[in-house]
Amino acid sequence: MHLFVTGGAGFIGSAFIRLALAEDPTCRITNFDALTYAGNLDNLKGVDPQRHRFLRGDITDRHAVTAALEVPADVIVNFAAESHVDRSIQCSDTFLRTNILGTQVLLDAARLKGIQRFIQISTDEVLGSLPEDADVLSTEDAAYAPNNPYAASKAAAEHLVRAAQRTFGLDAVITRCGNNFGPCQFPEKLIPLILSNAILDQPIPVYGDGRQVRDWIYVDDHCRAILRALAAGTAGEIYHIGARNERQNLDVVAAILKALGKPESLIRFVTDRPGHDRRYALDPTKIERDLGWRACETWESGLLKTIRWYNDNGNWLARARSGSYREYYDRQYGGTTETSS
Ligand code: NAD
Ligand code: DAU
Repeated sequence: MHLFVTGGAGFIGSAFIRLALAEDPTCRITNFDALTYAGNLDNLKGVDPQRHRFLRGDITDRHAVTAALEVPADVIVNFAAESHVDRSIQCSDTFLRTNILGTQVLLDAARLKGIQRFIQISTDEVLGSLPEDADVLSTEDAAYAPNNPYAASKAAAEHLVRAAQRTFGLDAVITRCGNNFGPCQFPEKLIPLILSNAILDQPIPVYGDGRQVRDWIYVDDHCRAILRALAAGTAGEIYHIGARNERQNLDVVAAILKALGKPESLIRFVTDRPGHDRRYALDPTKIERDLGWRACETWESGLLKTIRWYNDNGNWLARARSGSYREYYDRQYGGTTETSS
């Protein structure tokens, strides 16, 4: 099995590569990644170079993608994306290019090269916000309702995958997941941001009232589900991957501060994210029933592993927090007003 993985130097893509190589000794991977600010080859330290070929390239570059696929691959797994909602609110250009145009370039290349299966890694955000006071979960047939530029670009990508499947008969599967956490996540996202700021005794920005609900999953559980969808998913289907682990943001912050022995006085309530979705929660019944997948980590065990990793990898964190991260951080939080929630 030869997998062509895009975005494999990022948080989830690198976890997927480590897992896929460990689970299947015959697996070979080409990892095609542009190494944007979020891509980091340190995430792949220790991966067997005989079975992992890294190519730096942009998925919007048709020639580069076609050339990279000269070595025949069986499956494309598309993780490559601009993935941070706040950045998409600051400027959406790269989101539209990478997430939409890039996906179409990969779909065209998949057809041209006779790829057997295309896996599109998508998100619960394409469905928008759920009511917070009801027990409802989002199923695969829920209507699209993206509420921020990132989510809209990921919804557009899903439409293109569906179109390639219907129009050209491409074997394609879409997986949607909620909020991942674990090692190697860039510290712009909530959990690594809390961890890195708390370790350094710096303030922790909480948007609005902090009562938004996210459905948290340990990254390896997500990757195991993708492997199941790749091996046994039905072409044309969407699979929801969720760990049934809904938490309010404030509870996430409190749990991490407690585990680190840091005071809640580090919390700063700041101006809310525009268009902030109140609640996401996926119904994983279909993947549990049809593909026999279930999350293995509990919230507590996953969080412990994550905290340990950030505590033990100060150099990784220092590097991620240097350079352009400082500019982004000042743009995002410098002008925010502290509120009294
Ligand atoms: P990430 O931002 O950590 O990594 C993205 C990777 O894609 C980086 O290595 C980057 O260099 C690469 N990349 C960006 N633009 C590229 C381009 N034009 N060409 C080639 N490579 C490019 O993202 P992540 O959190 O690992 O997310 C991976 C995928 O999973 C994304 O598609 C995202 O939408 C989806 N997803 C993420 C989450 C989450 O909680 N993080 C949840 C559900 C779905
Ligand atoms: O739901 C899946 C999505 O999860 C993925 O598709 C995205 O790629 C991923 O970035 C993530 O999006 P979120 O916007 O939910 O994640 P983020 O970590 O940015 O924020 C999680 C929650 O925490 C959200 O309600 C906003 C809030 N938040 C975030 C930051 C960065 C804060 O309160 N303060 C912060 O500083």
